Amino acid sequence: MKILVTGGLGFIGSHTVVELQNEGYDVVIIDNLSNSSVEVLDGITAITGKRPHFEKLDLKIKDDVKSFFNTHSDISGVIHFAASKAVGESVNNPLMYYENNINTLVYVLQELSQLNQQNFIFSSSCTVYGQADELPITENAPVKPAESPYGNTKQIGEEIIKDTCKVNEKLNCIALRYFNPIGAHPSAEIGELPIGVPQNLVPYITQTAIGMREQLSVFGGDYPTPDGTCIRDYIHVVDLAKAHVVALQRLLSGNNDSNFDFFNLGTGKGSSVLEAIQSFEKVSGKKLNYKVVDRRAGDVISAYADTNKANDVLGWKTELTLDDAMASAWKWEQKIRNK
Ligand SMILES: NC(=O)c1ccc[n+]([C@@H]2O[C@H](COP(=O)([O-])OP(=O)(O)OC[C@H]3O[C@@H](n4cnc5c(N)ncnc54)[C@H](O)[C@@H]3O)[C@@H](O)[C@H]2O)c1
Repeated sequence: MKILVTGGLGFIGSHTVVELQNEGYDVVIIDNLSNSSVEVLDGITAITGKRPHFEKLDLKIKDDVKSFFNTHSDISGVIHFAASKAVGESVNNPLMYYENNINTLVYVLQELSQLNQQNFIFSSSCTVYGQADELPITENAPVKPAESPYGNTKQIGEEIIKDTCKVNEKLNCIALRYFNPIGAHPSAEIGELPIGVPQNLVPYITQTAIGMREQLSVFGGDYPTPDGTCIRDYIHVVDLAKAHVVALQRLLSGNNDSNFDFFNLGTGKGSSVLEAIQSFEKVSGKKLNYKVVDRRAGDVISAYADTNKANDVLGWKTELTLDDAMASAWKWEQKIRNK
């Protein structure tokens, strides 16, 4: 079966392509390389022994999306990762985010709606919950007003999909709400490639450890948590990638209960920023230069997933640990710096 993966050369997309190919799917990748490199194809090929079909295409260009789907009308499913994802940048440039994250979604759904098989997986985020009133966070937790234009694009994206599913019974969609994806493939052939200063904790940790950054700032040490730092649910990107395959299989086999559903993807366990640092220090044997500084605006105190729905309904659960993720991220950092 032919599966389209948009944003398939990015961090989560590339790991998902590997898992899809490992399961025997034929993968077509669309990416405009705005936040990735074409060399990622070599990494995917080295792991799986198969080079996926790649089209460099910008999904903001409606006509290009149309002609792509005309040529590939035999697609059985779409996993839509392509989006811009930097929260701070979205605050400064909201229209760029609404254009890239919303227009592209609309164009893909319009074309998908013309196909025989209409199966769609959407990259959503736990940011839709904001600071949830209860922990762990279930899928029934209310969606809170978005803290940033980026977060808003995920909420609007889910609404667009839900509204479209109401009027198109042939369309089957799952939104996956990721918690905090980290790590790299254990082979270190692919991983996270932040462009510029990393926005996320783990690339900042590994870049500090390797000497690219002088010091890691831990934002806030006075939160109402056991060690005073924020708590997040760090999920290994390989576990996350496998969840996409399982979700896709649910749609392909027609096992879904409704034509729009959503699932939390996390480990169910919250770890503090200091615990994440300790895990890194343990697996790398390196002492990290970090300093606890003032809180950062917009950070929620604590967020971790209730994973029961994903475990019971999808039959998926995480297998890898925080230490596994840190070890793989460190191996990847060393590999790319050596290059
Ligand atoms: N990484 C996270 O922490 C996280 C958390 C929650 C949700 N998500 C969502 O998961 C998805 C994938 O995230 P990621 O971390 O792999 O990001 P990424 O930036 O590594 O991957 C996104 C890919 O999409 C491509 N792309 C962007 N706009 C495009 C366009 N107009 N046309 C074609 N390609 C385009 C980029 O070049 C990149 O390769 C995104 O939708 C993101 O919002 C990520």
